[in-house]
Amino acid sequence: MNALFRTKSIRQVMSQPSDGEGHTGLKRVLGAKDLIALGIGAIIGAGIFATTGTAAAGGGGHVGAGPAIVLSYILVAIACGFCALCYAEFASVIPIAGSAYTYAYVTLGELAAWIIGWDLILEYAVGNVAVAISWAGYFRSFIKGFGIQISDKFMTATTISMHEGHGFSFNLPALGIVLLMTVLLVRGVKESINFNNFVVLVKIAVLVFFVGLGFVYVEPSNWNDFAPNGWKGIHQAAAVVFFAYIGFDAVSTAAEETENPEKNLPIGMIGSLVICTLLYIAISLVMTGLAPWNLLGTADPMATALEIVQARPGLSASSQQVLSFSHFVVTIGALFSMTAVLLVFQLGQPRIFFSMARDGLLPKFFAAIHPVYQTPHVTTILTGVLVAVAAAFMDIAIVIDLCNIGTLFAFVIVCAAVLLLRYRDGLRSQSQVRPYTLSSYVTLLFSVVLLVWGVMSPKMSSDQLTGLLCAPVALWVGLVYRQLPQASKRPFTAPFAPFTPVCGIVSCVYLMMESPATTWVRFFVWLAVGLAIYFFYGKGNSVLNHPQPEDLDTGFTRTDEDPGFTPER
Ligand code: ALA
Repeated sequence: MNALFRTKSIRQVMSQPSDGEGHTGLKRVLGAKDLIALGIGAIIGAGIFATTGTAAAGGGGHVGAGPAIVLSYILVAIACGFCALCYAEFASVIPIAGSAYTYAYVTLGELAAWIIGWDLILEYAVGNVAVAISWAGYFRSFIKGFGIQISDKFMTATTISMHEGHGFSFNLPALGIVLLMTVLLVRGVKESINFNNFVVLVKIAVLVFFVGLGFVYVEPSNWNDFAPNGWKGIHQAAAVVFFAYIGFDAVSTAAEETENPEKNLPIGMIGSLVICTLLYIAISLVMTGLAPWNLLGTADPMATALEIVQARPGLSASSQQVLSFSHFVVTIGALFSMTAVLLVFQLGQPRIFFSMARDGLLPKFFAAIHPVYQTPHVTTILTGVLVAVAAAFMDIAIVIDLCNIGTLFAFVIVCAAVLLLRYRDGLRSQSQVRPYTLSSYVTLLFSVVLLVWGVMSPKMSSDQLTGLLCAPVALWVGLVYRQLPQASKRPFTAPFAPFTPVCGIVSCVYLMMESPATTWVRFFVWLAVGLAIYFFYGKGNSVLNHPQPEDLDTGFTRTDEDPGFTPER
């Protein structure tokens, strides 16, 4: 039983950069700018270019937010901001490739780490399946511009709202692009990163172009019906556009290839999230200002918005020309953007497999590093083939939902693990438990009064009740936590902890609750399969079954020499 909760010390994880079989570790070649570009590369893709339309117009079982989609984007940015701060704190303390998997191993134990590692496949590999399918949709419209048609037999559905009722098909472009990315990634990280930096410049240029040009043609009356479905539309759309923010955490998987990771990882994650949030706000405002919100539910809503403007009566010939050119530019931008997402996610997934194999939870050959390119080529090829085959057959709506729920779950665990790590470090530093303050009791009382009031109130919907309760409960948990011993100083410290992690947990759980029941069932089946693999293989093969003398000091056994550890008092 103890085996399930055995943890690795930070010293242990930090001292295993190689695979233990004589191969050297990964090359440290990435700086802060590379990491911000890596983050933007992972974040901006199918989310803004494809799912924004259905989030604004409704479809796939949810109502549309209308122009208020901009509020959905802001709300999700705040939720992701809490999580990004927690990721940044962890990444600065444990700059190791495994991301949330490694953080869980250090804090919650081996079983939780395995569950997270397995869950992250939903984020990286399944997320990439969705992006590849969306890429194929844009690719089809791109080559159609040159008179080349792809038959429906070689495409699958590419929007959330049209995911039902299509027959068997094989998505050839999706398969092709994933295999191409795989070859590039086996060749080397720096080469891939140079490509990514170039693509990121292209995608930012295209989005700024869209905002600048679109601003000229905005028709403010399109914003009159700002939130046609009220709060319901806004939060249902939030659950969809969450996909557009996934990716900032992928920066942490490049930790072992980063120079000065304690400083550069937080800059990469938070910097890329802030830049993308500003772009998303501008784009969603312009998009819903160009066309009536209920006409945007297509696979390529930005292009649709431009087409609607083109159809406006009385437009000059030069405007017509500019608009057709911008349609072409947006399609190219979408293709480039999604290629970058594919690249970064294809970079992240093998590094998580790599960490799990190095820990013995997956077969050792997964952790092999290519003798010439110094990349984890076995896991890169394996991931590439699995994602390519899945992208060839799967339906985008199913994969987006699965990716969202899996990623939110990982975010919840990382936020919780930050709380735990600080507390355990505090215990190690033998801080005194502080007495409970009056403010905790007052906040608890406030939460109880609100609950009673909510339950007694006949008009209170369950949504309003949840919203009403979340804030004081989060505040109360935070205040109680603050009484506990904790180490607070890290190379990067999430501000306002414990409120930041608690708000991260509450907002991610709230977004998870938006997932349809079928997605929950798929999610649990996925976790059950993962648990079976752990009990049949990982538990018996874990390297912790054979601790080295220096590993015996497991748990939160940090010393003053450990990076990031400074006792608070
Ligand atoms: N955020 C990534 C995208 O939108 C997954 O494509």
